[in-house]
Amino acid sequence: MPPAAFETTLLIAKPDAVQRGLVGEIVGRLERKGLQLAGMKLVHVPRKLAEQHYAEHAGKGFFDGLIAFFTSAPVVVMAVRGVGSIAVCRTLIGATNGRLAAPGTIRGDLGLSGGHNLIHGSDSPESAERELSLWFDDAELIDYTSSSQGDVY
Ligand code: PPS
Repeated sequence: MPPAAFETTLLIAKPDAVQRGLVGEIVGRLERKGLQLAGMKLVHVPRKLAEQHYAEHAGKGFFDGLIAFFTSAPVVVMAVRGVGSIAVCRTLIGATNGRLAAPGTIRGDLGLSGGHNLIHGSDSPESAERELSLWFDDAELIDYTSSSQGDVY
């Protein structure tokens, strides 16, 4: 397996996760994996920010419903660090639809929907960079040492 880079990715616990009281469950899974929280905040998302975040889906049939859902209640926005964290978080999250997501993943264990699917995760280094700059100022991301950051192997 090739070495992986130490990365920061952007995760958002969506309104259904907050309303169902699953934020702790989700954060716990990230922490137990060895990932590190570098930034975290509760946001009731303004429509314009939601549209910016999901800009690549503008014009698709589900876009209006996605924005309505995403702005319907607070979300928890997280910057998450670790070796290979972008791909690792996507694996932990699972497939888009909870009915299809594998058991053991967040969506596979906790949901039955493809829209109300608990959590968003950046899907590439490019989207992580764009999304992190949309949701966090540099000063809000905190560097510190934690005990289980893994190595690059
Ligand atoms: S696509 O067209 O294949 O890229 O779309 P997909 O990957 O399936 O979904 C992109 C994101 O839109 C969300 N989505 C929805 N949200 C609410 N309601 C409906 N109907 C809906 N359909 C798709 C989906 O959960 C993806 O969100 P993120 O946060 O990026 O995982």
